[in-house]
Amino acid sequence: MTQADLVLHGARLLTLAPLREERPRVGPAAGDVGPVPDGWVAARDGAIVATGHGATHERLERVAGAIERDVEGRVVMPGFVDPHTHLCYAGERWEEFATRRSGADYLAVLTAGGGIHATVRATREATDEALLALLQRRIGDATELGTTTIEVKSGYGLEPAEELRQLRLIAGARAIAPIDVAVTYLAAHALPAPLGDDRARFIREAIGALAAVIDEKLAEAVDAFVEKGVFDVDDVRPLFAAAKKAGLAVTLHADQLNDVGAAAFAARIRARSADHVAHASADGLRALARAQTPVVLLPGSAFFVGYAPPEARRFIAARVPLALATDHNPGTSPLEGMPNAIVLGVTLCGLTPHEAIVAATINAAHALGRGGRTGALVAGRRADVIVLDTDDERELAYRMGAPLIDEVYASGKRVA
Ligand code: NIG
Ligand code: FE
Repeated sequence: MTQADLVLHGARLLTLAPLREERPRVGPAAGDVGPVPDGWVAARDGAIVATGHGATHERLERVAGAIERDVEGRVVMPGFVDPHTHLCYAGERWEEFATRRSGADYLAVLTAGGGIHATVRATREATDEALLALLQRRIGDATELGTTTIEVKSGYGLEPAEELRQLRLIAGARAIAPIDVAVTYLAAHALPAPLGDDRARFIREAIGALAAVIDEKLAEAVDAFVEKGVFDVDDVRPLFAAAKKAGLAVTLHADQLNDVGAAAFAARIRARSADHVAHASADGLRALARAQTPVVLLPGSAFFVGYAPPEARRFIAARVPLALATDHNPGTSPLEGMPNAIVLGVTLCGLTPHEAIVAATINAAHALGRGGRTGALVAGRRADVIVLDTDDERELAYRMGAPLIDEVYASGKRVA
Protein backbone atom coordinates (compact mmCIF):
# COMPACT_ATOMS: atom_id res chain seq x y z
CA MET A 1 0.00 0.00 0.00
CA THR A 2 1.25 3.48 -0.85
CA GLN A 3 2.37 5.40 2.22
CA ALA A 4 1.92 9.13 2.69
CA ASP A 5 3.04 11.72 5.23
CA LEU A 6 1.08 14.55 3.60
CA VAL A 7 -2.43 14.33 2.12
CA LEU A 8 -4.39 17.34 0.87
CA HIS A 9 -7.86 16.40 -0.34
CA GLY A 10 -11.17 18.00 -1.25
CA ALA A 11 -9.31 20.36 -3.58
CA ARG A 12 -9.71 21.99 -6.90
CA LEU A 13 -6.40 20.43 -7.93
CA LEU A 14 -4.32 21.98 -10.70
CA THR A 15 -1.88 19.27 -11.74
CA LEU A 16 -0.11 21.02 -14.64
CA ALA A 17 0.78 17.42 -15.56
CA PRO A 18 2.74 16.90 -18.78
CA LEU A 19 0.39 16.45 -21.72
CA ARG A 20 2.41 14.06 -23.80
CA GLU A 21 6.09 14.69 -23.43
CA GLU A 22 8.19 16.38 -20.83
CA ARG A 23 8.02 19.72 -22.65
CA PRO A 24 6.88 23.26 -21.86
CA ARG A 25 3.28 23.99 -22.78
CA VAL A 26 2.95 26.05 -25.98
CA GLY A 27 0.26 27.39 -28.30
CA PRO A 28 -3.27 26.24 -27.47
CA ALA A 29 -1.93 24.10 -24.58
CA ALA A 30 -0.26 27.12 -22.96
CA GLY A 31 -3.37 27.71 -20.86
CA ASP A 32 -4.07 24.13 -19.76
CA VAL A 33 -3.68 23.88 -15.99
CA GLY A 34 -4.88 20.25 -15.78
CA PRO A 35 -7.74 20.85 -13.33
CA VAL A 36 -9.16 17.96 -11.26
CA PRO A 37 -12.37 18.71 -9.33
CA ASP A 38 -12.54 17.17 -5.84
CA GLY A 39 -8.90 16.23 -6.25
CA TRP A 40 -6.16 15.17 -3.86
CA VAL A 41 -2.39 15.03 -3.73
CA ALA A 42 -0.28 12.86 -1.45
CA ALA A 43 3.42 12.98 -0.66
CA ARG A 44 6.00 11.02 1.27
CA ASP A 45 9.55 12.04 2.24
CA GLY A 46 9.39 15.20 0.14
CA ALA A 47 8.12 13.67 -3.09
CA ILE A 48 4.63 13.36 -4.52
CA VAL A 49 3.49 9.73 -4.38
CA ALA A 50 0.05 10.00 -5.99
CA THR A 51 -2.80 12.27 -7.05
CA GLY A 52 -6.45 11.42 -7.62
CA HIS A 53 -10.01 12.48 -7.02
CA GLY A 54 -12.93 11.75 -4.75
CA ALA A 55 -12.42 9.43 -1.80
CA THR A 56 -9.73 7.25 -3.39
CA HIS A 57 -7.10 8.86 -1.11
CA GLU A 58 -8.60 6.77 1.72
CA ARG A 59 -6.69 3.80 0.33
CA LEU A 60 -3.35 5.46 1.16
CA GLU A 61 -1.60 4.36 4.32
CA ARG A 62 -0.88 7.36 6.55
CA VAL A 63 2.47 7.11 8.33
CA ALA A 64 2.66 8.19 11.98
CA GLY A 65 2.48 11.97 12.30
CA ALA A 66 1.17 12.45 8.75
CA ILE A 67 -0.40 15.81 7.92
CA GLU A 68 -3.89 15.44 6.53
CA ARG A 69 -6.15 18.25 5.45
CA ASP A 70 -9.53 18.63 3.82
CA VAL A 71 -9.05 21.94 1.98
CA GLU A 72 -12.80 22.30 1.38
CA GLY A 73 -12.79 23.17 -2.28
CA ARG A 74 -9.83 25.52 -2.25
CA VAL A 75 -7.27 25.47 -5.06
CA VAL A 76 -4.21 23.24 -4.56
CA MET A 77 -1.50 23.71 -7.17
CA PRO A 78 2.26 23.51 -7.69
CA GLY A 79 4.35 26.10 -5.85
CA PHE A 80 5.51 28.96 -8.05
CA VAL A 81 8.86 28.88 -9.82
CA ASP A 82 10.47 32.31 -10.13
CA PRO A 83 13.14 31.83 -12.82
CA HIS A 84 14.74 35.31 -12.81
CA THR A 85 15.69 37.44 -9.80
CA HIS A 86 18.54 39.65 -8.63
CA LEU A 87 18.12 39.21 -4.86
CA CYS A 88 21.76 39.79 -3.91
CA TYR A 89 21.95 43.54 -3.45
CA ALA A 90 22.13 46.25 -0.83
CA GLY A 91 20.56 49.71 -0.97
CA GLU A 92 17.48 50.99 -2.73
CA ARG A 93 17.24 53.43 -5.66
CA TRP A 94 14.37 55.71 -4.67
CA GLU A 95 15.90 58.83 -6.22
CA GLU A 96 16.65 57.17 -9.51
CA PHE A 97 13.17 55.65 -9.62
CA ALA A 98 11.62 59.09 -9.16
CA THR A 99 13.82 60.77 -11.79
CA ARG A 100 13.21 57.99 -14.28
CA ARG A 101 9.46 58.12 -13.82
CA SER A 102 9.60 61.84 -14.46
CA GLY A 103 11.54 61.44 -17.67
CA ALA A 104 15.17 60.28 -17.19
CA ASP A 105 16.21 57.41 -19.45
CA TYR A 106 17.27 54.09 -17.85
CA LEU A 107 20.31 53.54 -20.10
CA ALA A 108 21.37 57.21 -19.82
CA VAL A 109 21.39 56.91 -16.02
CA LEU A 110 23.51 53.77 -16.32
CA THR A 111 26.00 55.38 -18.74
CA ALA A 112 26.36 58.33 -16.35
CA GLY A 113 27.57 55.94 -13.62
CA GLY A 114 24.26 55.47 -11.79
CA GLY A 115 21.71 52.70 -12.07
CA ILE A 116 23.36 49.29 -11.81
CA HIS A 117 26.63 51.04 -10.74
CA ALA A 118 24.87 52.62 -7.75
CA THR A 119 23.74 49.19 -6.56
CA VAL A 120 27.23 47.79 -7.22
CA ARG A 121 28.71 50.43 -4.88
CA ALA A 122 26.18 49.78 -2.13
CA THR A 123 26.50 46.01 -2.44
CA ARG A 124 30.31 46.06 -2.34
CA GLU A 125 30.17 48.15 0.80
CA ALA A 126 27.76 45.81 2.55
CA THR A 127 29.30 43.23 4.88
CA ASP A 128 28.90 39.51 4.28
CA GLU A 129 26.60 39.29 7.30
CA ALA A 130 24.38 42.12 6.07
CA LEU A 131 24.12 40.68 2.55
CA LEU A 132 23.37 37.19 3.80
CA ALA A 133 20.63 38.57 6.05
CA LEU A 134 19.11 40.47 3.10
CA LEU A 135 19.21 37.36 0.92
CA GLN A 136 17.58 35.28 3.61
CA ARG A 137 14.85 37.81 4.15
CA ARG A 138 14.09 38.12 0.44
CA ILE A 139 13.99 34.36 -0.07
CA GLY A 140 11.67 34.16 2.97
CA ASP A 141 9.40 36.86 1.53
CA ALA A 142 9.18 35.00 -1.79
CA THR A 143 8.36 31.77 0.08
CA GLU A 144 5.49 33.48 1.93
CA LEU A 145 4.11 34.47 -1.47
CA GLY A 146 4.09 30.89 -2.74
CA THR A 147 7.45 30.52 -4.46
CA THR A 148 9.06 27.11 -3.93
CA THR A 149 11.87 27.40 -6.49
CA ILE A 150 13.74 30.61 -7.11
CA GLU A 151 16.61 31.62 -9.33
CA VAL A 152 19.04 34.11 -7.80
CA LYS A 153 21.68 35.93 -9.85
CA SER A 154 24.85 37.66 -8.84
CA GLY A 155 25.65 40.70 -11.00
CA TYR A 156 26.19 43.58 -8.60
CA GLY A 157 29.89 42.85 -8.17
CA LEU A 158 31.06 43.26 -11.78
CA GLU A 159 34.76 42.53 -11.09
CA PRO A 160 35.27 38.76 -10.74
CA ALA A 161 36.55 38.80 -7.14
CA GLU A 162 33.46 40.65 -5.96
CA GLU A 163 31.15 38.53 -8.13
CA LEU A 164 32.64 35.43 -6.52
CA ARG A 165 32.09 36.87 -3.04
CA GLN A 166 28.44 37.45 -3.90
CA LEU A 167 28.06 33.97 -5.43
CA ARG A 168 29.51 32.44 -2.25
CA LEU A 169 27.00 34.39 -0.18
CA ILE A 170 24.16 33.21 -2.42
CA ALA A 171 25.46 29.65 -1.95
CA GLY A 172 25.34 30.24 1.81
CA ALA A 173 21.75 31.46 1.59
CA ARG A 174 20.87 28.50 -0.62
CA ALA A 175 22.21 26.03 1.94
CA ILE A 176 19.80 27.27 4.61
CA ALA A 177 16.85 28.24 2.39
CA PRO A 178 13.50 26.48 2.92
CA ILE A 179 13.03 26.32 -0.88
CA ASP A 180 15.12 25.35 -3.91
CA VAL A 181 17.52 28.09 -5.05
CA ALA A 182 19.04 27.99 -8.56
CA VAL A 183 22.14 30.17 -8.72
CA THR A 184 23.25 32.10 -11.81
CA TYR A 185 26.52 33.94 -12.37
CA LEU A 186 25.47 37.18 -14.06
CA ALA A 187 28.96 37.70 -15.43
CA ALA A 188 28.36 40.67 -17.72
CA HIS A 189 25.86 43.11 -16.23
CA ALA A 190 27.70 46.39 -16.81
CA LEU A 191 31.27 47.45 -17.60
CA PRO A 192 33.11 48.63 -14.46
CA ALA A 193 34.43 52.20 -14.86
CA PRO A 194 38.16 51.38 -14.39
CA LEU A 195 38.11 49.32 -17.59
CA GLY A 196 37.14 52.31 -19.72
CA ASP A 197 35.77 50.75 -22.87
CA ASP A 198 37.73 47.52 -22.76
CA ARG A 199 34.89 45.03 -23.04
CA ALA A 200 37.14 42.29 -24.36
CA ARG A 201 39.34 42.45 -21.27
CA PHE A 202 36.32 42.45 -18.97
CA ILE A 203 34.91 39.37 -20.71
CA ARG A 204 38.33 37.63 -20.52
CA GLU A 205 38.39 38.24 -16.77
CA ALA A 206 34.85 36.93 -16.37
CA ILE A 207 35.86 33.79 -18.30
CA GLY A 208 38.78 33.50 -15.90
CA ALA A 209 36.36 33.40 -12.97
CA LEU A 210 34.54 30.37 -14.40
CA ALA A 211 37.18 27.99 -13.00
CA ALA A 212 36.27 28.99 -9.42
CA VAL A 213 32.57 28.89 -10.24
CA ILE A 214 32.95 25.29 -11.41
CA ASP A 215 35.38 24.19 -8.67
CA GLU A 216 33.19 25.48 -5.88
CA LYS A 217 29.90 24.62 -7.68
CA LEU A 218 28.79 28.22 -7.26
CA ALA A 219 26.35 28.47 -10.18
CA GLU A 220 24.34 26.43 -12.68
CA ALA A 221 24.21 29.08 -15.36
CA VAL A 222 25.88 32.19 -16.75
CA ASP A 223 23.93 35.29 -17.73
CA ALA A 224 24.70 38.59 -19.53
CA PHE A 225 22.89 41.88 -20.18
CA VAL A 226 22.92 42.05 -23.97
CA GLU A 227 21.68 45.55 -24.70
CA LYS A 228 22.51 48.65 -26.72
CA GLY A 229 25.51 50.39 -25.13
CA VAL A 230 26.01 47.61 -22.55
CA PHE A 231 27.27 44.35 -24.12
CA ASP A 232 26.56 43.22 -27.66
CA VAL A 233 26.27 39.71 -29.02
CA ASP A 234 29.90 39.66 -30.17
CA ASP A 235 31.14 40.76 -26.73
CA VAL A 236 29.42 37.89 -24.92
CA ARG A 237 29.91 35.13 -27.49
CA PRO A 238 33.25 33.94 -25.98
CA LEU A 239 31.81 34.07 -22.46
CA PHE A 240 28.89 31.85 -23.37
CA ALA A 241 31.10 29.49 -25.37
CA ALA A 242 33.38 29.07 -22.33
CA ALA A 243 30.41 28.63 -20.00
CA LYS A 244 28.90 25.91 -22.17
CA LYS A 245 32.26 24.20 -22.52
CA ALA A 246 32.47 24.14 -18.72
CA GLY A 247 29.06 22.46 -18.55
CA LEU A 248 27.07 25.49 -17.40
CA ALA A 249 23.75 26.55 -18.85
CA VAL A 250 23.48 30.00 -20.40
CA THR A 251 20.71 32.55 -20.19
CA LEU A 252 20.44 36.14 -21.40
CA HIS A 253 18.87 39.51 -20.68
CA ALA A 254 17.86 39.75 -24.32
CA ASP A 255 16.39 42.69 -26.23
CA GLN A 256 14.91 44.27 -23.11
CA LEU A 257 15.00 47.91 -24.22
CA ASN A 258 16.23 47.66 -27.82
CA ASP A 259 16.42 45.00 -30.48
CA VAL A 260 20.09 43.99 -30.60
CA GLY A 261 19.57 40.55 -32.09
CA ALA A 262 19.89 38.88 -28.69
CA ALA A 263 16.75 36.75 -29.01
CA ALA A 264 17.97 35.05 -32.20
CA PHE A 265 21.41 34.67 -30.64
CA ALA A 266 19.87 32.99 -27.57
CA ALA A 267 18.08 30.52 -29.84
CA ARG A 268 21.24 29.85 -31.84
CA ILE A 269 23.37 29.06 -28.80
CA ARG A 270 20.60 26.93 -27.25
CA ALA A 271 20.25 29.15 -24.20
CA ARG A 272 18.34 27.70 -21.26
CA SER A 273 16.12 30.76 -21.57
CA ALA A 274 15.90 34.16 -23.27
CA ASP A 275 14.61 36.74 -20.80
CA HIS A 276 12.78 40.07 -21.28
CA VAL A 277 12.54 40.02 -25.15
CA ALA A 278 10.20 43.03 -25.04
CA HIS A 279 11.88 44.39 -28.18
CA ALA A 280 12.71 41.13 -29.96
CA SER A 281 12.31 41.33 -33.74
CA ALA A 282 10.06 39.07 -35.79
CA ASP A 283 13.20 37.15 -36.83
CA GLY A 284 14.21 36.74 -33.22
CA LEU A 285 10.79 35.42 -32.37
CA ARG A 286 10.87 32.92 -35.22
CA ALA A 287 14.29 31.70 -34.10
CA LEU A 288 13.04 31.20 -30.53
CA ALA A 289 10.03 29.28 -31.83
CA ARG A 290 12.18 27.04 -34.02
CA ALA A 291 14.58 26.25 -31.19
CA GLN A 292 11.73 26.08 -28.62
CA THR A 293 13.84 28.29 -26.35
CA PRO A 294 11.85 29.19 -23.23
CA VAL A 295 11.21 32.91 -22.99
CA VAL A 296 10.92 34.51 -19.54
CA LEU A 297 8.62 37.52 -19.58
CA LEU A 298 9.46 40.17 -16.95
CA PRO A 299 6.52 42.56 -16.95
CA GLY A 300 7.59 44.07 -13.61
CA SER A 301 10.45 45.91 -15.29
CA ALA A 302 8.23 47.20 -18.13
CA PHE A 303 5.79 48.39 -15.46
CA PHE A 304 8.32 50.16 -13.23
CA VAL A 305 10.52 51.54 -16.01
CA GLY A 306 7.61 52.39 -18.28
CA TYR A 307 8.57 50.80 -21.59
CA ALA A 308 6.27 48.84 -23.87
CA PRO A 309 5.81 45.38 -22.33
CA PRO A 310 6.44 42.18 -24.30
CA GLU A 311 3.35 41.13 -26.24
CA ALA A 312 2.53 37.62 -25.09
CA ARG A 313 0.08 36.95 -27.95
CA ARG A 314 2.89 37.12 -30.53
CA PHE A 315 4.79 34.45 -28.64
CA ILE A 316 1.79 32.24 -27.95
CA ALA A 317 0.77 32.42 -31.64
CA ALA A 318 4.31 31.39 -32.64
CA ARG A 319 4.27 28.52 -30.09
CA VAL A 320 7.20 29.91 -28.09
CA PRO A 321 7.29 28.49 -24.53
CA LEU A 322 6.49 31.32 -22.11
CA ALA A 323 7.49 31.66 -18.47
CA LEU A 324 6.99 34.54 -16.04
CA ALA A 325 9.32 35.90 -13.35
CA THR A 326 9.50 38.81 -10.94
CA ASP A 327 12.98 40.06 -12.04
CA HIS A 328 13.11 41.35 -8.48
CA ASN A 329 15.89 43.97 -8.34
CA PRO A 330 16.27 47.49 -6.92
CA GLY A 331 16.47 49.19 -10.32
CA THR A 332 13.94 48.04 -12.87
CA SER A 333 11.65 45.78 -10.86
CA PRO A 334 11.13 46.10 -7.11
CA LEU A 335 8.33 43.57 -7.54
CA GLU A 336 7.47 41.17 -4.72
CA GLY A 337 6.22 37.69 -5.41
CA MET A 338 4.87 35.67 -8.31
CA PRO A 339 1.20 36.61 -7.77
CA ASN A 340 2.13 40.16 -8.80
CA ALA A 341 4.06 38.87 -11.81
CA ILE A 342 0.91 36.94 -12.78
CA VAL A 343 -1.24 40.08 -12.50
CA LEU A 344 1.17 42.04 -14.72
CA GLY A 345 1.61 39.15 -17.16
CA VAL A 346 -2.13 39.31 -17.74
CA THR A 347 -2.74 43.07 -17.59
CA LEU A 348 0.38 44.24 -19.45
CA CYS A 349 1.43 41.33 -21.66
CA GLY A 350 -1.97 39.90 -22.55
CA LEU A 351 -1.62 36.40 -21.14
CA THR A 352 -4.85 34.75 -20.06
CA PRO A 353 -4.97 34.01 -16.31
CA HIS A 354 -4.47 30.30 -17.01
CA GLU A 355 -1.54 30.98 -19.36
CA ALA A 356 0.02 33.11 -16.63
CA ILE A 357 -0.33 30.24 -14.13
CA VAL A 358 1.31 27.82 -16.57
CA ALA A 359 4.06 30.42 -17.12
CA ALA A 360 4.58 30.73 -13.36
CA THR A 361 4.80 26.97 -12.69
CA ILE A 362 5.63 24.23 -15.19
CA ASN A 363 6.97 26.49 -17.95
CA ALA A 364 9.08 28.43 -15.43
CA ALA A 365 10.48 25.11 -14.20
CA HIS A 366 11.49 24.33 -17.78
CA ALA A 367 13.12 27.76 -18.07
CA LEU A 368 15.34 26.71 -15.13
CA GLY A 369 16.09 23.24 -16.47
CA ARG A 370 13.84 21.73 -13.80
CA GLY A 371 10.88 20.78 -16.00
CA GLY A 372 10.99 17.18 -14.77
CA ARG A 373 11.47 17.95 -11.09
CA THR A 374 8.91 20.55 -10.02
CA GLY A 375 6.17 22.77 -11.46
CA ALA A 376 3.54 20.00 -11.67
CA LEU A 377 1.66 17.75 -9.26
CA VAL A 378 2.76 14.38 -10.59
CA ALA A 379 4.03 11.30 -8.75
CA GLY A 380 7.79 11.33 -8.45
CA ARG A 381 8.21 15.09 -8.44
CA ARG A 382 9.20 17.20 -5.51
CA ALA A 383 6.21 17.92 -3.28
CA ASP A 384 6.21 21.68 -3.93
CA VAL A 385 2.57 22.54 -3.33
CA ILE A 386 0.54 25.60 -2.41
CA VAL A 387 -3.01 26.01 -1.14
CA LEU A 388 -4.87 29.14 -2.23
CA ASP A 389 -7.56 30.94 -0.27
CA THR A 390 -9.96 30.70 -3.20
CA ASP A 391 -11.81 28.08 -5.22
CA ASP A 392 -10.94 29.81 -8.50
CA GLU A 393 -7.28 30.22 -9.43
CA ARG A 394 -8.09 33.04 -11.84
CA GLU A 395 -8.43 35.23 -8.77
CA LEU A 396 -4.60 35.27 -8.67
CA ALA A 397 -4.58 37.37 -11.83
CA TYR A 398 -7.41 39.58 -10.73
CA ARG A 399 -7.44 40.53 -7.06
CA MET A 400 -4.06 42.28 -7.06
CA GLY A 401 -2.38 42.28 -3.66
CA ALA A 402 -4.95 39.98 -2.05
CA PRO A 403 -3.48 37.52 0.46
CA LEU A 404 -4.39 34.42 -1.53
CA ILE A 405 -1.49 32.16 -0.51
CA ASP A 406 -2.73 30.10 2.43
CA GLU A 407 -0.24 27.26 2.80
CA VAL A 408 3.14 26.59 1.20
CA TYR A 409 4.88 23.17 1.15
CA ALA A 410 8.39 22.79 -0.26
CA SER A 411 9.67 19.24 -0.64
CA GLY A 412 6.65 18.16 1.41
CA LYS A 413 7.43 20.40 4.40
CA ARG A 414 5.21 23.27 5.47
CA VAL A 415 7.38 26.39 4.96
CA ALA A 416 4.75 29.14 5.16
O1 NIG B 1 16.66 42.64 -15.47
N1 NIG B 1 18.56 45.33 -17.14
C1 NIG B 1 19.37 44.60 -16.61
N2 NIG B 1 19.29 44.02 -15.41
C2 NIG B 1 18.18 44.17 -14.53
C3 NIG B 1 18.13 45.50 -13.86
C4 NIG B 1 19.33 45.81 -13.05
C5 NIG B 1 19.27 47.13 -12.34
O2 NIG B 1 18.79 48.15 -12.87
O3 NIG B 1 19.77 47.14 -11.20
C6 NIG B 1 16.89 43.82 -15.24
O4 NIG B 1 16.08 44.69 -15.59
FE1 FE C 1 17.01 40.88 -14.72
